[in-house]
Amino acid sequence: MKPGDVLFTADQIARRVAELAAEIRRDAAERPLTILAILHGSVVFLADLLKHLGSAVHVELIEASSYRGGTASSGQVILSRYGQLDLAGRDVLILDDIVDTGHTLAAVRKTVEAMGPRSVRTCVLLDKPSRRKVAMDIDYCGFEVPDVFVVGYGLDYAGRYRDLPHVARLEGADD
Ligand code: XMP
Repeated sequence: MKPGDVLFTADQIARRVAELAAEIRRDAAERPLTILAILHGSVVFLADLLKHLGSAVHVELIEASSYRGGTASSGQVILSRYGQLDLAGRDVLILDDIVDTGHTLAAVRKTVEAMGPRSVRTCVLLDKPSRRKVAMDIDYCGFEVPDVFVVGYGLDYAGRYRDLPHVARLEGADD
């Protein structure tokens, strides 16, 4: 399987990331924001978003896995690398590359809420609403995608293609 049709070019993504950052900044209303980025898919998105957000931003990381190297979700989410995390009283923005079934964001949100934050919002670059299994509000969304497996701009297939500057359909995954 390899990357096929480009769904979003690097320029389109750059413009949309700047717009999302402006919305996030406006809503934060000068209060410090803690971005909790979900590893590994969100790292490119996080880096680009940070360049627009100014200094009142803390970054924290959490790892979530459910894919086990394929293109189908197992539905069971394993969270790790967040042992020292303390989000009590913080305004938290959970950041991910894509929301698909919703299991990952739901699991992270539950973990965050148990820490007593002041507020919790969610931001994803991509939303695949047709595959949602867990209802959830996404506060900031870059683009909607159809029900196809996508790679690039941080999103991988079996560890590959994160380096692509655009988002492309993975050829052969859904045929
Ligand atoms: P769920 O189903 O829990 O999935 O909302 C969220 C996580 O699954 C990964 N995912 C994808 N990764 N191309 C990818 O490279 C895709 O089309 C795709 N759909 C879901 C991703 O890691 C996300 O955090």
